[in-house]
Amino acid sequence: MTQYAKVIGTGGYLPEEIRTNEHISEKVDTSDTWIFERTGIKSRRIAAKHETTSSMAEVAARQAIEMAGIAADDIDLIIVATGTPENVYPGTGCVLQHRLGIKKGVAFDIQAACSGSIFGLDIANNYIKSGAAKTVLVVGTEINSRITDWTDRGTCILFGDGAGAVLLQASDEQGILSTHIHSDGQYEDLLNCPNPQAMGDADGVGYISMKGNEVFKVAVNTLGRIVDETLAANNMQKSDIDWLVPHQANIRIIAATAKKLKMSMDHVVVTVEEQGNTSSASVLLAFNEAVRDGRIQRGQTVLLEAFGAGFTWGSALIRY
Ligand code: COA
Repeated sequence: MTQYAKVIGTGGYLPEEIRTNEHISEKVDTSDTWIFERTGIKSRRIAAKHETTSSMAEVAARQAIEMAGIAADDIDLIIVATGTPENVYPGTGCVLQHRLGIKKGVAFDIQAACSGSIFGLDIANNYIKSGAAKTVLVVGTEINSRITDWTDRGTCILFGDGAGAVLLQASDEQGILSTHIHSDGQYEDLLNCPNPQAMGDADGVGYISMKGNEVFKVAVNTLGRIVDETLAANNMQKSDIDWLVPHQANIRIIAATAKKLKMSMDHVVVTVEEQGNTSSASVLLAFNEAVRDGRIQRGQTVLLEAFGAGFTWGSALIRY
C-alpha cells in the first residue's frame, strides 16, 4: 500500500521584539507608507541576543511534537533548513537533535535560502515514500536580522526572524501528494549573502545583497510556472486547491500567484504584514498559523510554494 507523508504536527516561534516600519524610517530614508505599499510589510520580529537558530528551532519543534502526541525519540530524521546557521559546523540539525534529547536516527541541514522548507518537505516525502524514514521533522529557522545591512533601505525593510516546524509520519492516509523543486545557479548576482571568512577575509562581514526589482520579476514568473507544474502532476484544476500557503516575501508576489490560481485572497495565508520575509521559516510559520487557528481543516488540499536565492524554487501539494 502507498505510504504517504502525513502531517501530524506543526509549530512556530517568533521572537518577542517587534521592529516596525517607523523604527526603520528613523535610521534610513524610507517611510511606513512606501514599505507597506511596495511590500505589504508593517513590522517584523527580531531575535534577542541570547537566541540562536537552534534555540528558536527547538521551540517550534517541541510545539509540533506536542501537537502530534509523539515522543521526541520517535523521530528518525531531522531536516533543518537555514541560511543563518549558528555554526559552520556542527549543523543546526545536529544541535537541534541534541536539544530535543534524541540519540538515534539522523539529522542534517539544507541550504536552499527561502525555498528551504519546500526542499525539506521534498526530502522528507522521498524518505518516507521509500521507507527509509518513518517520522520526519522539518524545520525552517532563520535569524535574518544578523545578516541584514540596516543601512541598506533596499533590503533592511524586508526581512525578519522566526522558526517554523512540521512533523510528518508514514501513513496509509493521504498526506503530501507531490513535491516539485528546482534550482538555477545563474542568478547569484541578483540575490546573495557572502561568507567573507570562508573567502579569506577574516575581518569581513557578510550582508544580504539584492537587485530587488529583477528578483521580483523572476519570482512572479517562476511561481506561476510551479503552480502549473503542480496542478498538471496531480491532474487537478485550480479550483481543487483549498488553500495557498506561499513564501512571504512581498504581498504583490503573493497576490500574483493567487491571481494565477484564480483564488480569492481569503484562501491565501498571509503573514508578511507582521513577520516580513523569514526565509526558510516563512512557509512553515504560515502553515502552522492557519492549522492552529482552524482555517486549514483535515481533508483539505493545500499548496505550499517558495522562491529564493540560488535561484531555488518549489512547491508541495498536501492533503491535510
Ligand atoms: N524606501 C523608499 N524608497 C526606496 C526604498 C525604500 N525602502 N527602496 C528602494 N527605494 C527607491 C529606489 O531607490 C528607487 O528610486 P529611484 O526610482 O529614484 O531610483 C525606487 O524606490 C524604486 O526602486 P525599485 O527597486 O524599482 O522598487 P520596487 O518597486 O521593485 O520595490 C522591493 C523594491 C525590494 C520592495 C521589491 O523589488 C521586492 O520586493 N522585490 C522582491 C524581493 C524579494 O522577494 N526578495 C526575496 C526573494 S526570496
